[in-house]
Amino acid sequence: DSQPPVATKRVLLAAPRGYCAGVDRAVIAVEKALELHGAPVYVRKEIVHNKYVVETLAERGAIFVNDTDEVPEGARVVFSAHGVSPAVVAAAKERNLDTIDATCPLVTKVHKEAVRFAKDDYDILLIGHTGHEEVEGTAGEAPDHIQIVNSPDDVDNVVVRDPDKVVWISQTTLSVDETMETVNRLRTKFPTLQNPPSDDICYATQNRQVAVKKLAPHCDVVLVVGSRNSSNSVRLTEVALDAGARASYLIDYAKEIDSAWFDGATTVGISSGASVPEILVQDVLKYLAEQGFGEIEEVRTATEDLMFSLPRELRADLKKAG
Ligand code: F3S
Repeated sequence: DSQPPVATKRVLLAAPRGYCAGVDRAVIAVEKALELHGAPVYVRKEIVHNKYVVETLAERGAIFVNDTDEVPEGARVVFSAHGVSPAVVAAAKERNLDTIDATCPLVTKVHKEAVRFAKDDYDILLIGHTGHEEVEGTAGEAPDHIQIVNSPDDVDNVVVRDPDKVVWISQTTLSVDETMETVNRLRTKFPTLQNPPSDDICYATQNRQVAVKKLAPHCDVVLVVGSRNSSNSVRLTEVALDAGARASYLIDYAKEIDSAWFDGATTVGISSGASVPEILVQDVLKYLAEQGFGEIEEVRTATEDLMFSLPRELRADLKKAG
């Protein structure tokens, strides 16, 4: 009496996933500042958009504030990986703050593009999400020249001074496909629309989306480890659904998983956003193994070895400390 074969339950694990070079640098910057100068070290906004990272650094003496006016006069403050507008830099100077700028160099690159195109008097269309810290920082470089385009549908609302002098730039953590859709619609409206000099959506965002796109069609469920306010993490759940996963969930911690999500499932995909430490993914894998998803297959679409040097203010302090 032969038994029907039991379907193997497996996990497809996306690679690359998790920490990007900009997040790694920003988190180390706060750690080093705490080591060198002792607590407290103030951090404007969440250093990166991840609950676990923020809670862990807060336990070690980082104080997260919404803006520089909450930092005591003369104290030390770290600017987050998402970047700040010139107005924030000026406000910090006014308060005599000792600043450490942990803005990701790939965000700084977009700031420089904005400054350059504003100087040449272009209308700059910044594709990104209103209210996101990175978009506030970039838009603040040239408020008179930049307007934010949130989505393909938002293109209908765009009005420019000279349709032949328009350029688009973008937030670094968007969906590549949706951004292209927005650009196509903009180009229909403004046929001579200029492209940014190089990709603004960063390598880490792109690589994580490509890996999820590859595994999602084979998955019943795709879990993305990441926080709600993490743009690139949220995009990964959308990419998973677009690519054919039946369901996709964003979770901060393994304990948030509901076992009912896996009813009838044989393949679960896993990825994590660019601000997510690997330990959180390992916790999820442990939980899944307990549910019978013990077999893990890595789906790798790229290898990454980019690293950024620490913010220069810290490098100088480290040198002094010997
Ligand atoms: Fe920078 Fe991209 Fe990470 S812009 S902080 S490398 S997600």
